[in-house]
Amino acid sequence: MENKSFPYSELVMEHFSNPRNMGEIENASAVGNAGNPNCGDLMRLYLKIEDGIIIDAKFKTFGCGAAIASSSMLTEMLKGKRLEDALKISNQAVADALGGLPPVKIHCSVMAEEALKAAMEDYEKRKNS
Ligand code: FES
Repeated sequence: MENKSFPYSELVMEHFSNPRNMGEIENASAVGNAGNPNCGDLMRLYLKIEDGIIIDAKFKTFGCGAAIASSSMLTEMLKGKRLEDALKISNQAVADALGGLPPVKIHCSVMAEEALKAAMEDYEKRKNS
């Protein structure tokens, strides 16, 4: 029986049940951490970057289903992207790609955007050191 009050899109459920790119990248070009102090959830994003292009992205997320689905979708969106285009990915873009998130779960996609920003900062830092 269809439950109309169930708040998650099929895509959210699909990425939660079969997360893409879960794990870590050894010798990653950049690592970004983000966390939400209210719920205590954490995300770590690993990127492999060559010639300004993200050739691989993986994640480890200790968090709710929406955070895992957001992490999974973010890594799929990142692979093959030029850095300048990757930087334009917002939490809203991740939530939209998942077919939307319930308002109380938008902060879970914000964690993905923050992990991405942190990874980009880490990459810049490593480049300049
Ligand atoms: Fe914490 Fe979703 S409830 S990230």
